[in-house]
Amino acid sequence: MRIAVAREADPAEPRVAATPETVKQLKSLGADIVVEPGAGVASGIPDAEFSQAGAVVERGAASTADVVLKVRRPTAADLTGYKRGALVVAIMDPYGNEAAIKSMADAGVTAFAMELMPRITRAQSMDVLSSQANLAGYRAVIDGAGEYGRALPMMMTAAGTVPAARVFVMGAGVAGLQAIATARRLGAVVTATDVRPAAKEQVESLGAKFIAVEDEEFKQAETAAGYAKEMSKEYRARQAALVAEHIKKQDIVITTALIPGRPAPKLVSRDMVASMKPGSVLVDLAVERGGNVEGVKAGEVNEINGVKIVGYANVAGRIAASASALYAKNLYTFLETMIDRNTKELAINWDDEIVKGTALTRDGAVIHPSFAKNAA
Ligand code: NAI
Repeated sequence: MRIAVAREADPAEPRVAATPETVKQLKSLGADIVVEPGAGVASGIPDAEFSQAGAVVERGAASTADVVLKVRRPTAADLTGYKRGALVVAIMDPYGNEAAIKSMADAGVTAFAMELMPRITRAQSMDVLSSQANLAGYRAVIDGAGEYGRALPMMMTAAGTVPAARVFVMGAGVAGLQAIATARRLGAVVTATDVRPAAKEQVESLGAKFIAVEDEEFKQAETAAGYAKEMSKEYRARQAALVAEHIKKQDIVITTALIPGRPAPKLVSRDMVASMKPGSVLVDLAVERGGNVEGVKAGEVNEINGVKIVGYANVAGRIAASASALYAKNLYTFLETMIDRNTKELAINWDDEIVKGTALTRDGAVIHPSFAKNAA
C-alpha cells in the first residue's frame, strides 16, 4: 500500500496533510509513504525531515498512490494524476460544490470529506473541524490584538493605568470557546453570545459573561448533532437589539457563528460597526461562508470610520505548523481504522458510521446521501 502526501496546489494553503510523526505512524501500519517535494515547507517541515521519518520524497508521488492525503479538495489537474480507485482524504468543502464532487466521482477516486466526520466520541480525534477551529479561535484573538492599538490586560503603572480591553465573542462553538479562553489569558474582560443554550454554561465556565435573549426558542435551538439551528426572524431581531447595545462598548469583537451547510448568519450590521469607537477591531472568522460582519472583505483588513474589520481567510493556516500537526493526526487516526494490521492492506468497513458519514464518492458515483441526489 502506497500513501502519498500531496503538495497543495493552492498557494494560499500552507498546511500539509502529514508530519514526520504521522509518517512514522503510517509506516508502522505497513504502508510505503511518498511525499511530493516541498509539501511541508510552508508548515516548517523541509523534505529532509520527511525523508528522515522514512518517507520517499518524489515528484508526482500521488500518481502511483493507493491513498492520497491532502488538505484541500483536489483540483481538476490533480485528479488527472491520480489512479482510478485511489482514496483521497481531505477537507472537501462539499456544500455548494456539487460539480466538483461529481468530477471526483468521474475520476474514479474514492473521496472522503473529513469535515463530515460524525461528532461521536470515537471520532473526536478525527474531527478536523474541531482541531482547526480551535487554532483559528486562538489566532483570531492574536490577530485582533495585533490590530488593536492598546493593551489587552489592565496595567497599573507609575505613569498611569491602562484599562483592560473588552472582548466580545459571537458564536461560542469550538473556535469561540478557544477565543474566549485566549482573550481571558491575555487579561481582557470577555463576554460571549450563542444561540445554543448549552453554550451558556461553557462560556461561564471559562469566566466570561453570557449575553443572549433566553426565550423559549433559544431553549430549543440545538440540533441532535449539537449544531445551531437557523433562528426565526423575530428572534434574530430581538437578539440584534441586545447585541447592538452591547457592541457599542466593545474594543474587540470576534465572530465565529456558522450553521452547517448554510451561509453564515449576519450578526453585525453596518450600523453596529458605525456605533463602535474608532480603534475598535472586529475579526470575522466566518468570512469564507459570507461573513458575520457587514462590510467584511475576504483576505483583507479594511477600515470603516476608524473601526478595523479583519477578514483573513484560512485562519488556521495562519498558524500552519500547529494546524498541520493536528490535521495530520486527525487523518492518521481516521486512516488507521481503514487498514488491516495483518494484511497491511486497506480494509474499509463500509458499514462503519465514520466511513458512511464521510465517504463522498465511490466506484464512479457520488454516494453520500446529502450530495448523491444533486449529482444525478
Ligand atoms: P459551528 O462552527 O458550526 O458554529 C460556531 C458557533 O456559532 C456554534 O456554537 C453555533 O451555535 C453558533 N451560532 C450559529 N448561529 C448563531 C447566531 N445567530 N448567533 C450566535 N451564535 C451562533 O460550531 P462548532 O464550533 O463546530 O460546534 C458546535 C457544537 O458541537 C458545540 O457544542 C461543540 O462543543 C460541539 N462539538 C462536539 C464534538 C463531539 O462531540 N465530538 C466535537 C466538536 C464540537
